[in-house]
Amino acid sequence: MAAKIIAVVNQKGGAGKTTLTMLLAGGLGDKGKRVLVADADPQNTALHWAGMGNGFPAEVEDVSGEEGKLHKALRKRQEEFDYIVIDSPPAAAAPVTASALKAAHLALVPVIPSPLDLWASVRIREAIALARHKNPELVARLVVNQMQPNTVLAREVLGMLPEFGIPLLAASLKSRTAYRQCAALGASIHALGSRAALAVLEVDALRREVERLLRGR
Ligand SMILES: Nc1ncnc2c1ncn2[C@@H]1O[C@H](COP(=O)(O)OP(=O)(O)OP(=O)(O)O)[C@@H](O)[C@H]1O
Ligand SMILES: [Mg+2]
Repeated sequence: MAAKIIAVVNQKGGAGKTTLTMLLAGGLGDKGKRVLVADADPQNTALHWAGMGNGFPAEVEDVSGEEGKLHKALRKRQEEFDYIVIDSPPAAAAPVTASALKAAHLALVPVIPSPLDLWASVRIREAIALARHKNPELVARLVVNQMQPNTVLAREVLGMLPEFGIPLLAASLKSRTAYRQCAALGASIHALGSRAALAVLEVDALRREVERLLRGR
C-alpha cells in the first residue's frame, strides 16, 4: 500500500515541528512501520537529530532542494514506505511548504499555548485552505505542544483554539526534558526506556490517534 503522507507545518519558528516530526516518525518506526522523514527545512534539524546516534528507526533524507516539486518527488517514493513524515521550514508561503501540503493526507500544526504563537500561526491556516483547492481530502489538526496543564494561561489559550478553524488533536505533548534528550541522543522516545515512561505514553497516544485518522485513506 502507498505511504500515508503527514506534513508537519507552521509559520511560527520553534513551535515544535521537528520535535513532533521525529517523535512521531520514531514512534511509528519502533512499531515496525517503514518510515521516511522528508526533511524539507534547509536548516536540516531532523537530519542532525538522526545523525546524533545510531539506529534512529526511520530513514531521514534532505529534500529541501526539491522546493515546489516535493510532492512529485514523494509520490515516487510512496511504495517504499508505510509513512512519510515531512518536517517543514517555518515559512507558510514557501514553495516547499505548499508542495508538502499538496502531497499530504494529514497536516499537523504544532502550537505552543501562548497568544503570540497563535497569532503567528494564522498564515498556515491560509496555506492549508489554499492547498485544499488541489488536495480537497487534506485533513488538518492542531497539536498542542509544550502543554502546561492546569494553568490559567493554558486554559485561556486552549479556549481560543476552536476559533482557529482547525480541529484539535486530542493527544498533546507536554514540555519534557526527555524530548530534548531524544534529540541529543539521536533517538526515538522508546530508546530512552523507563527513564521516559510518561513521555512514551504521550507519544504512543499521539501515534495511535494519527494512525486512526489515516486509516482507510
Ligand atoms: N514538548 C517539548 N518539550 C521540551 N522541549 C521542546 C518540546 N518541543 C520543542 N522543544 C524544544 O523547543 C525548541 C524548538 O523546537 P523545534 O526545533 O522542534 O521547533 P521547530 O518548529 O522545528 O523550529 P524551527 O521553526 O526552527 O524549525 C527545541 O530546542 C526543542 O528541543
Ligand atoms: Mg524545525
